[in-house]
Amino acid sequence: LKLGVMASGSGSNFEAIAQAIADQQLHAQVNVLLYNNPGAKAAARADRWGIPAVLLNHREFESREALDEAIVETLRQHDVEWVIMAGWMRIVTPVLINAFPRRILNIHPSLLPSFKGNRAVEQALAAGVKITGCTVHLVVPEVDSGDIIMQAAVPILPNDTLETLHDRIHTQEYCIFPKAIALAAQVQPPSNA
Ligand code: GRF
Repeated sequence: LKLGVMASGSGSNFEAIAQAIADQQLHAQVNVLLYNNPGAKAAARADRWGIPAVLLNHREFESREALDEAIVETLRQHDVEWVIMAGWMRIVTPVLINAFPRRILNIHPSLLPSFKGNRAVEQALAAGVKITGCTVHLVVPEVDSGDIIMQAAVPILPNDTLETLHDRIHTQEYCIFPKAIALAAQVQPPSNA
């Protein structure tokens, strides 16, 4: 599987995927890392893995569609089959989604359909639920709404803060994301198969 990973920040999920590949738990390769924030830690991680990193700074594009056109072009240049949104904090449009039909995965830090959007961990804490988790799903135009590929449950403990809870969720994310990529690819073979 030829992957293109998209990340906005730390990129620890990207790193977990690279590690799963190195450990031969996931039979794939990361052809390119795309990032949108100059200085994103994800770029330094890519350097360490010898993975090409391409900065597409959303501030330099006039619309979401224009950014997505550049993303599609970059992914094509790197021969990407599967697009992995690992902490990509921009809303994507049909320009990207239609270029890789049912081949874009996102990870979200809640048990969808609960707590969509970019404050999922905070909202789960505030709601007082005792179990939250993470979800890998196919990307569709409606945010955090495509078919669910895999989920893991995470308990919320009495003294949890945003940070301790998000750390616990992250640990489960690292576990399910590589597995979910393999599973999604099994269900959805390459378009040229
Ligand atoms: C993860 O919690 C993911 O669920 C959310 O953004 C976070 C990215 O973390 N979409 P990282 O950049 O992989 O460390």
